[in-house]
Amino acid sequence: MTGRLAGRSALITGAARGIGRAFAEAYVREGATVAIGDIDLEAAERTAGEIGPGAYAVRLDVTDLDSIEAAVRTVEARTGGLDILVNNAALFDLAPIVEIGKASYDRLFAVNVAGTLFTLQAAAKAMIARGQGGRIINMASQAGRRGEALVAVYCATKAAVISLTQSAGLDLIKHRINVNAIAPGVVDGEHWDHVDALFAKYEDRPLGEKKRIVGESVPYGRMGRAEDLTGMAVFLASDEAEYIVAQTYNVDGGQWMS
Ligand SMILES: NC(=O)c1ccc[n+]([C@@H]2O[C@H](COP(=O)([O-])OP(=O)(O)OC[C@H]3O[C@@H](n4cnc5c(N)ncnc54)[C@H](O)[C@@H]3O)[C@@H](O)[C@H]2O)c1
Repeated sequence: MTGRLAGRSALITGAARGIGRAFAEAYVREGATVAIGDIDLEAAERTAGEIGPGAYAVRLDVTDLDSIEAAVRTVEARTGGLDILVNNAALFDLAPIVEIGKASYDRLFAVNVAGTLFTLQAAAKAMIARGQGGRIINMASQAGRRGEALVAVYCATKAAVISLTQSAGLDLIKHRINVNAIAPGVVDGEHWDHVDALFAKYEDRPLGEKKRIVGESVPYGRMGRAEDLTGMAVFLASDEAEYIVAQTYNVDGGQWMS
């Protein structure tokens, strides 16, 4: 087996579609075996089948500690150990401050923040017990770099992901577990179809207009594609990133500088 991730075992949460799926495809191309962990098991199975023998589906709800434990155990049983976790599953919502509902707040923090932390924790425990180090990559966002008028809760969850990446990165590097994050800008796909529909509602725009405007505002000249992020995801999981600890990298066509 050749490739920069040859022989590695990865779990990618929320990988049935979108960015997580693109990461799974890239990891398999680089020689890894990838668990497509998703709350939508049917979609995860379809995706794994389409990717081929290097991928398999695992039912995973990142808000449920038992489900997280079971997914990590499944990966260990199937591949002999977990080398790479990508915390990718997340939800988006949008509302003016005076309309934010508690249920939406709870759900976004449960998936985006608690889901990231406790999946990271379960993976770290398994990696520490095995004693061979590991890689954990969290999906942050440019939304975590600064607030946005209508996007308070999602922005706050992604700021929390950047902060958790720093703390976990500093705590776990003694076990040779590198924790880092990727902050994408605006990436086209089903996620952004949903975002566009919410902006259409709250900013009284025709469908598709918000997408066009944000795409034009990217210094690179267009929205991102999931494939634009795979280079960073492979790099951070590879041996070349050994000395990189607790960082969040912008991959956003020039949207944000930090
Ligand atoms: N698309 C963008 O513009 C963009 C920009 C910045 C950051 N991001 C981040 O990148 C990541 C992937 O984004 P995407 O656009 O591919 O998202 P997406 O909405 O297309 O896919 C998310 C996946 O997560 C799964 N999921 C949802 N809840 C889950 C749960 N409780 N447990 C397990 N799986 C669950 C869904 O079934 C889905 O397959 C997210 O963390 C997102 O916040 C996306």
